[in-house]
Amino acid sequence: MTYRIAPSILSADFAKLGEEVSNVIASGADWIHFDVMDNHYVPNLTIGPLVCEAIRPYTTAPIDVHLMVKPVDRIVPDFAKAGANVITFHPDASDHVDRTLGLIRDSGCQAGLVFNPATPLNWMDYVMDKLDVVLLMSVNPGFGGQSFIPGTLDKLREARAKIDAYAERSGRKILLEIDGGVKVGNIAEIARAGADTFVAGSAVFGASKDSDPQRYNSVIGELRGALAGV
Ligand code: DX5
Ligand code: ZN
Repeated sequence: MTYRIAPSILSADFAKLGEEVSNVIASGADWIHFDVMDNHYVPNLTIGPLVCEAIRPYTTAPIDVHLMVKPVDRIVPDFAKAGANVITFHPDASDHVDRTLGLIRDSGCQAGLVFNPATPLNWMDYVMDKLDVVLLMSVNPGFGGQSFIPGTLDKLREARAKIDAYAERSGRKILLEIDGGVKVGNIAEIARAGADTFVAGSAVFGASKDSDPQRYNSVIGELRGALAGV
């Protein structure tokens, strides 16, 4: 099993975002998780395509854009042009889920659906062929630093079963990502429940305040160490 660690820059120092991006990748992270909030779909407002474009030169690692916006389609090509590699959105925020997935793929990015804690997984059933990533929210979207909702573990097991059954019949792998409240102390049981890609915001960026470029090394090492024991 290959695991990916995707620090959410929502908890980074926004005044030094480029530096934070290169430092966290230099410290061993795999993806940059980029949280887009519109103060409409979720009660918070963050960053858009201009900021994605601004950080793009700071890393060659994939930028994983998590759209918490409604409507979805208008903004997709802008993120693709800004250098996004993966774009995920909430199916309840799009009027035409299949069309939005196609739009993301046609823009040259990998596409994924995001499931809120109360959103049923069957939204994915008829669009498996258009999915590269399934992202389960283990907190209600809108803020970093919340606690992991334990019921997400059962939901992960269900999602894992669907994805594995699909892989068996199609030969195609879909990633299973988890977002919210992931820490050194719970990442192993989250992995055992089936996740392979882990967003961690406050756990990573809250870990160190010193100025060493590899300051996130030890927390990312601890996350990987916990995963190695799975
Ligand atoms: C929440 C965001 C998350 C958030 C995770 O709506 O989608 O990506 O930054 O932060 P932590 O890891 O602190 O829960
Ligand atoms: Zn997110």
